[in-house]
Amino acid sequence: MPVPVIIDCDPGHDDVFAIWLAAGNPDIDIRAITTVSGNGYLEHTTYNARVALTVAGVTGIPVAAGADGPLERKATPATWIHGENALGGPELPEPTVPLDGRSALQLIADVLAEADEPVTLVPIGPLTNIALFLREKPELVGKIKEIVWMGGSTGRGNVGAYPEFNAWCDPEAADLVLRSGLPITMVGLNISHQALITAEVIDRIGAIGNRTGAFGVELLRYFCSTYDKVEGMPEGPLHDPITVALLIDRAVATVRRAHVDVETKGEFTSGATCVDLHDMLGKEPNVDVAITLDVDRFWNLVVDAVRELA
Ligand code: RIB
Ligand code: CA
Repeated sequence: MPVPVIIDCDPGHDDVFAIWLAAGNPDIDIRAITTVSGNGYLEHTTYNARVALTVAGVTGIPVAAGADGPLERKATPATWIHGENALGGPELPEPTVPLDGRSALQLIADVLAEADEPVTLVPIGPLTNIALFLREKPELVGKIKEIVWMGGSTGRGNVGAYPEFNAWCDPEAADLVLRSGLPITMVGLNISHQALITAEVIDRIGAIGNRTGAFGVELLRYFCSTYDKVEGMPEGPLHDPITVALLIDRAVATVRRAHVDVETKGEFTSGATCVDLHDMLGKEPNVDVAITLDVDRFWNLVVDAVRELA
């Protein structure tokens, strides 16, 4: 049976591919897409989520806008990677997918309330919406099956030395979610940097020959160009789709259970995920941490999904 999911995102080049992987694979049933301020301001991430669905010819999935900034801090768009509109590169078509009139919180609540089975949350941006939902809708937390989050890192970060961007944007939200006691899988930079966009990957996406693949090639080329300029990585890491790939096939990545704390007070490390991989602290493990990616399997899933779209 397809896995019912809500994708909470901040498109964002890699977010778009996570949406496409979920939409193009029969094992995933996207019940809703919610947006959050992260890679771009909320107006951009919300517009871009609608563009992602429009390009792919995907209809019937409600899209609702969520938090326009972190719980306590100010919004810090990652223009250095994603551009001023958070989806730099291609000319963006006018989205034909409407914006749902509900807030992200209300849409998540409605989907969970109506679901006849628990729903998986797939946050691939800052965890602001998820934290707000856990705080304001405690009566529906029992309808959450698990959370599969792209964020954090077992090692170096990508904002300064140790913080990863999604956790860095809203450390208080990440701390609240990781303390929630819900089943959480963390897809951090340590594994996402194994999903490198090689020339062969770009060629495979382009060779599909559909509109989605052509648009996707423009996204990948822009994303690689900024990663090359900013991080010296000409083959950019396609972080977010790994979350969806794990829901399709758990064998696509190995995981290790560990205790993870989020630094919220550090002057230089705020947002860093402190992953106690060797149980040095004797704290109860709270997260399944993704470690090693089956790279071929991952890219095959992505290419096969794009092929199913418009
Ligand atoms: O650090 C990578 C994460 O930050 C990804 O989710 C990317 O889309 C950005 O949101
Ligand atoms: Ca993202």
